[in-house]
Parts: sequence; structure tokens; C-alpha cells
Amino acid sequence: MHLFTSSAALVLVSLVLGANGAAPPQSTSYATLLASSAISRGQGNGLSSSGAPVDSYEHGTFQRALTRLYEKTGDKKYLDYIKKGIDALVGSDGSVKAYSLTEYTLDNIKIGDSMVQLAKLTGEAKYKTAATKLRSQLATHPRTPSGGFWHKNIYPNQMWGDGQYMALPFYAAYTSAYQPTNTTAWDDMALQLKLYDSHSLQKSTGLLYHGYDELKKAVWANSVTGASPEVWDRAVGWYSMALVDLLEYWPTSHPGRATVLSLYRSLVPALVAAADPTTHAWWLVMSQPGRAQNYIESSGSAMFVYSILRGLRLGYITDVNGQYKNAAVAAYKYLLNTFVVSASGGLADFKGTVSVGSLSGAGDYSYYVSQTIVTNDLKGVAAFVLASVEYESL
Ligand SMILES: *[C@@H]1O[C@H](CO)[C@@H](O)[C@H](O)[C@H]1NC(C)=O
Repeated sequence: MHLFTSSAALVLVSLVLGANGAAPPQSTSYATLLASSAISRGQGNGLSSSGAPVDSYEHGTFQRALTRLYEKTGDKKYLDYIKKGIDALVGSDGSVKAYSLTEYTLDNIKIGDSMVQLAKLTGEAKYKTAATKLRSQLATHPRTPSGGFWHKNIYPNQMWGDGQYMALPFYAAYTSAYQPTNTTAWDDMALQLKLYDSHSLQKSTGLLYHGYDELKKAVWANSVTGASPEVWDRAVGWYSMALVDLLEYWPTSHPGRATVLSLYRSLVPALVAAADPTTHAWWLVMSQPGRAQNYIESSGSAMFVYSILRGLRLGYITDVNGQYKNAAVAAYKYLLNTFVVSASGGLADFKGTVSVGSLSGAGDYSYYVSQTIVTNDLKGVAAFVLASVEYESL
């Protein structure tokens, strides 16, 4: 009898608990739970750990997630937190502290998206002034011979998947708000996507390599295409979020919209095909699934869930027998059960996010798999909040 009871209990326990052996905290909304947890840790508040204002894309991405949550819930605490973060950076005259235009990094532009959103939501002129300053960087930002934005001034002639998210949704939000008929700007955005896609596409899978060097000078550059050697999940994740966010702004009258839709419609089935059959989520190095030291990574996986579910909800792609939705939902459940764990005070932690991935070095397999895995990395938390908002809108 004892034996029977304990084995029945074991079955129950293994049904309830995730792969890490701990159940996620109970919640009616993991979007609000994870956002509130990050807010109570003071993350994404516009200040660095030493208290100085920062123009951080991590803060910008988290603020984008809070914007979505504000749109969904109408809870002003999210809007107030975005405002607090941007007010740490933007003076009352619209000047932007801690921002260097001539550093020419696309990463620093992401935060401009929050400025455009705040200008719209609060009507305060200083946010438009600040956004205009960041927008002006794009006029002189260094470009490849074909016209692609360099990821950073320190990475000449390189376009990265990450940069598509850092620059383009802001470029689109700004153009949509202040120059909606600027055809040159919409053409320019479409060009960026076409360049990154045409040089970085892994034709056998439909996934994209992390980046490419148009002059093929980087140590990692493929001698024919200029592409880097591996498919890194978060780079594809940023790109997948860029595509879906761009469509929110792109005028139906501009032909570039068809380009974005077509790129998105090619990417989604490639993502679904690349999901790990056991966990339903995605490998850190997507080009080497299952290889020793590779692992299921939380931030890139959450980005894919967000991109697929949002695109389905907004009708950017037609599901085939519900398979895209099923794939995203299965991945979401795995992420929830594996990476979300209880923290003190009724809050939650989010685990399993790789701290960094860069093409500053060799860009090879051993580089990607040897980076630190972090709990409560804002890139992962922001992506999971975005994914949760979509999951909870099903
Ligand atoms: C339209 O966008 C282009 C490309 O970014 C830019 O050079 C131009 O100044 C913009 N036009 C206006 C009226 O601002």
C-alpha cells in the first residue's frame, strides 16, 4: 500500500514539475508576474548598476514589453516605469544624456523606440525631440557598399541579425509617426532586411547566420557569402521580432511591406522545423542541434514564441492545420516549466539566458557555447514577457 501510494505520488510529481524539478509559481498572468519581478529588482530603469543614465537596448527591449503590457492591461504602473526609465536619460529640453551619436552603434538606437511610444502616449514634446536626435544618427551612420548599416563603427561592413531589431522598429515607428509618406525611408528599411537576408540565409534550413561581412575581411567571413559560420538563436530571435514589429508600422501602400511579409512567411516554417523535438524549444547554436555543450536557450526561444504567436494573431501568416500555433504553445509551456521559478516575495526568476553572443571574435561553435548562462538577464526576461503577452492573448 505504501509502495503504491508513493509511486502514484511520483507520477503526479513528474506531471506537475518541470525539467528542473521545480514547479513555476502559480499565476494568472506570467506577463505581469515576470514584469513586476523585474521592476521590483529595478531592472530597465534607465540607470546602469552604478546609477548613471544608460541608452541600453536591454532597457529599450524591456520597455517595449512593458508597452505591450500597458496596451493589454491599461495598468498605468507600466507606463510610469517606462517614463521613469526614459526620464533618467532625457532632459526636460529633450537632450539625451549618455548618448554618443558618433559612436555609431545600432544598439544605442533601440531606446529611441521607447521615446516615440512615450511621445505618443504622453503628448510631451521632449520625447519627440529626443527621438529625433537618435533618428539623426541614421543619416550619417556608416554603411556597407550596398547600403547596409554597419552593426557598429567598430565592426566595419558587418550587418548582424541583432542590428535589424535595434534599428528598424525604431526607424519604422519614427517614420510612421512623423514622416509616414517618406518613401525613401521605407525603401531604406526594406533594403536593410534584403541585404541581411540575402547574405546570411542558410539555404538548407531557411535560418540565418548571425551576420555577414560584405567585404569578407572578418576572420569568420565565408569566402563566398561573407556570412559568419553559425546560426545563433538570439540573433535570429531579434530578427524574427523585428519582422513582426515592423509590420505594425509599414504602410500597406508601400511595396516593402510585401518584402517584410515574405521574409516573415519564410522564417516561421523554418523556425518550427528547427524546434527541438523533445523540448519543443530551440538550441543556442541552431546550426548544431544536439552537439555536446549546446543547450536549449531561453531568450532566443522566447523571442520565437513571441514572433510566431503575434504574427498569427495579427494575421501576417496563415497557420497550416494549427501547426505553427501548436509549436509556439508547446515551446512556451516548456519555457514556463523549465526557466520560470519562484523567488522570494511572491516574485519569479527567469533562468537560462546566455549573457552574450558577438561576432567580435572567431564566431565559432566553441565561442557561443562557452558564454555564461544568466538568471534574470533582462534580454531573456523582456522576451519572456513579450511571449507571455501573446500567449495570454490566445
Ligand atoms: C526621409 O528619409 C530619408 C532616409 O532616411 C532621409 O534622408 C530624409 O531626410 C527623410 N525625409 C524627411 C523629409 O525627413
